[in-house]
Amino acid sequence: MARTGRRAVIRGTGACLPDRILTNADLERMVDTSDDWITTRTGIRERRIAREDEPMSFFASRAAREALRASGVAPGELDLVICATVTPDMPIPASACIIQHQLGARNAAAFDMSAGCSGFIYGLAVADRFLASGAYRSALLIGAELLSKYTDWTDRSTCVLFGDGAGAVVLTAGEGPSGVLATSLHADGSMADYIYVPAGGTREPASERTVAERRHYIRMKGNETFKMAVRSMEEASREVLERAGLKTSDIDLFIAHQANRRIIDAVGSRLGLTESQVYVNIDRVGNTSAASIPIALDEAVRKGLLKDGDDVLFAAFGTGLTWGAALCKWGR
Ligand code: ACO
Repeated sequence: MARTGRRAVIRGTGACLPDRILTNADLERMVDTSDDWITTRTGIRERRIAREDEPMSFFASRAAREALRASGVAPGELDLVICATVTPDMPIPASACIIQHQLGARNAAAFDMSAGCSGFIYGLAVADRFLASGAYRSALLIGAELLSKYTDWTDRSTCVLFGDGAGAVVLTAGEGPSGVLATSLHADGSMADYIYVPAGGTREPASERTVAERRHYIRMKGNETFKMAVRSMEEASREVLERAGLKTSDIDLFIAHQANRRIIDAVGSRLGLTESQVYVNIDRVGNTSAASIPIALDEAVRKGLLKDGDDVLFAAFGTGLTWGAALCKWGR
């Protein structure tokens, strides 16, 4: 049954990418790979990489400021700052607190959300509940990652995939037709070792041995992840459509987590969507994990691809394993 009543409405979007571009040709000089392999298997042509002295919050705060400007909400009016990330500035404290301070959002509660590439969908569901309940009136949701800092640049199976960046949305409560129509969240920790960084936590604290054994870098079972990603994003998408009482033909724009062009195409085709309904920017940004959906959304908004009343479907899949989808009716 379609949802009624108060819900979170996206009032403004923003994004920030590093200036530095790493092309497939650059990677050909670093590891045993080729532009042809990367383009054919992933759809990625280039990605953005942060400099050594640029932490995640540098990009997150810039994306957030843009989203705040677009929304007309002042930093001091924010009630909540959520930063979806698995690559925080430091293990302690939450990067959301650092960003809250940088923005001057002194009245906002702030916390990080660790759901990997599904972080934006998880964050959207949480922000929506806070706003729908009446507990808060406004929220800033950021998806920001610098996976390059966890990348083993000698491992060709992962180093060609990831890019850095940040995207943000400002949400306020609304009672009209626009806003979050439905969300669906899932997790299965039995596959926690499909995408993980073995050391640096309490299980294997950083030591000379863990550094020497390169255990602070991301490891991934790409093939197994691929199959799960397609199936689970399709299922979660169908769930939110059903909850909102909509059909796939109602979708005006589908923004999936940009992990692999083949995954996006496969999910789009299983849902019966045409090419023009599916937004793709993985060729220019790579897999930016939790940042990928808000970066793509901000691009779509700036290109004028969304008009009031449009139905936008988001779906993501990532480490955990976690996955989910969200459906929003566009409009302020
Ligand atoms: N260049 C050249 N050859 C390569 C490269 C490379 N960069 N990487 C792997 N290969 C080789 C492999 O060694 C293998 O060779 P072999 O057949 O001789 O053994 C061959 O290419 C095929 O390897 P596969 O791993 O089977 O390739 P696949 O088609 O599955 O593509 C990829 C790999 C791109 C990683 C894909 O599996 C994928 O995108 N998986 C999903 C990733 C994902 O969705 N992650 C979730 C989000 S990440 C997060 O949450 C942080």
